[in-house]
Parts: sequence; structure tokens; C-alpha cells
Amino acid sequence: MLKYKQLSFLDEPVVTVEDDWTFNGASTRELTHCYHDYPARMIPQVASKLIEMYGENAKLLFDPYCGSGTSLVEGMLRGIDVIGTDLNPLARLIAEAEVTFPDLFTLDNSIKQFNDFVLRSQPIKLDKPPVINGISNIEFWFKPLVIEKLLRLKVFIDTIEDDAVRLFFKVAFSETIRESSNTRNDEFKLYRYEQSKLKIFNPNVFYIMFSKLKRNRLGLEKYVEKMLELKDFPEAKVYGFNSVEEMPSEVFGKRLADIVVTSPPYGDSHTTVAYGQYSRLSAAWLGLEEPDKIDRKLMGGQSLKKIPVFPSDSLNETINIIRQKDHKRAQEVASFYSELQQSITKVAKVIKHGGYACYVVGNRKVKGTVLPTDVVIRDFFSVEGFEYITTHHRLIPNKRMPLRNSPTNASGVLDDTMTQEYIVVMRKGFGNIAADRKLGYRVSARKKKGKITPRKVKSARDMKKKKGIIYKQMRKRKKI
Ligand SMILES: C[S@@+](CC[C@H](N)C(=O)[O-])C[C@H]1O[C@@H](n2cnc3c(N)ncnc32)[C@H](O)[C@@H]1O
Repeated sequence: MLKYKQLSFLDEPVVTVEDDWTFNGASTRELTHCYHDYPARMIPQVASKLIEMYGENAKLLFDPYCGSGTSLVEGMLRGIDVIGTDLNPLARLIAEAEVTFPDLFTLDNSIKQFNDFVLRSQPIKLDKPPVINGISNIEFWFKPLVIEKLLRLKVFIDTIEDDAVRLFFKVAFSETIRESSNTRNDEFKLYRYEQSKLKIFNPNVFYIMFSKLKRNRLGLEKYVEKMLELKDFPEAKVYGFNSVEEMPSEVFGKRLADIVVTSPPYGDSHTTVAYGQYSRLSAAWLGLEEPDKIDRKLMGGQSLKKIPVFPSDSLNETINIIRQKDHKRAQEVASFYSELQQSITKVAKVIKHGGYACYVVGNRKVKGTVLPTDVVIRDFFSVEGFEYITTHHRLIPNKRMPLRNSPTNASGVLDDTMTQEYIVVMRKGFGNIAADRKLGYRVSARKKKGKITPRKVKSARDMKKKKGIIYKQMRKRKKI
């Protein structure tokens, strides 16, 4: 049995881990999870285990920071309707692709056409480099031969008529862009290769694209096969609203989430875990909105002038320590937690009584002080009437970005706090069912058993229709 002392320095008990959350050696790129890399991705095994443990009979899963859509894919695999949101348009594109089922026959036709195109298409003559909004110096990031090939690919993808197939190609194109750019591929931030590497760097753009399509096609096929085992086909929706602000009313309607499975940002999007920087080149080529402004929009992207008092002694204490060393850094930290608290207030409202919030977090360091995000999440949810269930600990075997980045941003210095993850599980109390009913939510609570029966949202006809489409795809696939 493993025993890890909680790194938050506060009065929390030592948490004993009896079950393994490390999943050392497990493949994290199965099914549509293989489509695209993403900074600080949750591993599917964690999402899956959380849903298994806390999502029994769940009908709706919500991820307020869905990133590449890991928990959405896992929710769907269990027949649960899923809703995700993310402010980063590239994250939304990936998440949407991962939960979309293009017709396999149509997809295979497009892949065949792509192969013909690679053999037959002629180079485009470029007098000057093309203008790609969001990349000011395109030749700094891409070699001329690469630019020409990416342009041809883009033209090809734009001719694909089927929306789901085009989305599938766009995701493969996005990774192709990153891999054929001059940016170091083992980093999430944008760092250009050094001259010696650049001299010998000659990526085969079409081959990269082809291998992404092939890999993703296999992942999709396996996902479709698994989905066919389900009795009812679930629904997935990916939005771009800010989870710090009030949830748009049309998103949930009168439904409430049974379970939230999420990993919020670390609060250092503009420095260390730069989602926007990671996405910028692809987002620009794909014509997504404001590719160079993402990181500032994300939680904690703007600094607060006045540091508030939080309903968390641990947090107030920590911010005070940082303030004594660096007032500006303390303001930045406070702004992140202020938005996290606002977000938790909003998320709490859309979880039904008896429902669970599972937050996967890392406790990063600022100015040598550990930010006890796990305890803070617990405190913030407690204010909203949630009961603390447990904190699962996870050693991260090979988390790419945080391991490589230091608390001081000095390259090569490791932050040992980031080699662990905390999975905080909170449960919404049963106190206010009457209030929910007043608001119009359909909650028929069986309080004693701790279960709430959600309303049925889709008509049987809708379900049949959806399943029919998938079956049709499979039949066609088998004929190939
Ligand atoms: C740790 S990542 C989520 C990774 C995801 N679980 C996955 O497996 O890919 C956090 C995400 O939160 C998003 N984000 C940050 N602030 C946000 C906000 N205010 N509203 C919605 N999404 C936000 C970021 O764009 C990023 O994709």
C-alpha cells in the first residue's frame, strides 16, 4: 500500500492511497484520444475511473474546462450525455472532433482522394509568403517549402463538403502544422529550433498528414465499435463560453449535471502552461479566431489590483507569504483564484443535489511557496454547500510540460510539486432540492438512497435515428 503525504502544508490529514491512480505504462492515446496532443491533458484512465466510481447512473457529465475533450469521450463511452466548454478555439476543435462520428465510408473516400491529391497536385507558385492572420513572421516559423505544402493541404481540406469529415481532416492538419513548423516539438511553448537543427530540418509534410489520418482513422474505428455496444446513443455538445461567467441558459436548459469531471488550468497560462502559445500556429492556419490572444483571455490571464480575502485560510495565508516576496506575483495568483472561485460558484449551480464534482489539479509553486489548490478547491466548493468526499493522489509518471518547467521558469529546473496530481472529489448536499424545484429544475430526489432521477431529454425516436446512422456507417465500413 502506498502512502503519500499531502504536499499542501495545512492541517489536512495524510491521505492514504489504496488504489492506484498512476496508470504507469497505460496507453493514453487509445480511441479518439489519439487525435491530438494538448498541454496538461487529463489521462483517459483517470476520467474513466472517476466516472466509474462517482458516475453510477449518471445521465449528464459536464466539463467546464474541457480542453481536448478527454472526459467528454470517456463520458460518452458510458452512454452519458456530455457538455464541455473551453475558451481556446483549438481545444474546442479537437474536443468536437473527438466526439464526432463521421460516416466511415465518406471518410475513407476523402482519404483516398487525399492520396490521389498527394500524387497529382502541382506546387503552387508563391511570389511572396502568404498572409496567415495571427502569425506575423511566417518564414520564421515555417520553411518556404513547408508553407507551400501546407497551403496545398489547406486548399484540399476546404474542398471537403462533409462537415464531420472536414473536421477530422482539420485535426490531422493541426498536428501536421505543428510538426512541420520550426518550433521545438517536445515543448508546448513556442521555441524555435536552434540553427544547427534548422539546417537539417526538412519535414515531409504530406507524409506527416497521411500518418495522422491513418492513426486517427484507426482510433475512430475502435471508438465507433465501442459506441455500438451501447444501448442508447449519448449526445455531446462543445461550447466556447467562459466558465467563470454565468452559464448561458440554453446550454443546460432545465437539466443539471450528475457529475463534473475536469482539470482546470494551473493559473499560469501566460507563463508556463501556455495553451494559447501551443495552439497559435495551428489556430492561425485553420483561421480560428484571435490565435494570438488566447492566453490573456483564460482564467488568471488578467491581474487584479486589489487582493481579496478568500473563503480559504490556506489560500489567504499562502498569498500573504508570496506578497511579502513579490507583490505583483501575489496579485497574479489572487486573480487566478478569484476567477476559480467565481467559476466554482457557477459550476456548483448546474450540478444536481447528490451529484459529484471531481477536480484534477496540480499544486504549483510560486516564489518557492506551494499553492494548495487541492485544499482551495475543497474550501470553495464547501462554501457552495458541497461535502468533501476524498482526495485521490496520483504520481505523474511522464507529464511532459510541468516536469520540464520550473517554478521560476528557469529552463531545466524541475518542480517536484508538479509530479503529483490531486483529484478532489466533492458532493453536492441534499439541502436545497425544493429551491431547485422552484427554479424549475426537474429533480425527483430519492434522498435516502442518495440518487436523483434525471428527466429524459431525448425522445426514443431521436435515439433510434442516431443509432441508425451509426449502424449505417458500420455496415458501409464492413463492405470496404
Ligand atoms: C488543464 S486544461 C484541460 C485539459 C483537458 N482536461 C484535456 O484532457 O485536454 C485547462 C483548459 O481550460 C481552458 N480554460 C481556461 N480558462 C477558461 C475559462 N475561463 N473558461 C473555459 N475554459 C477555460 C484552457 O483553454 C484549457 O484548455
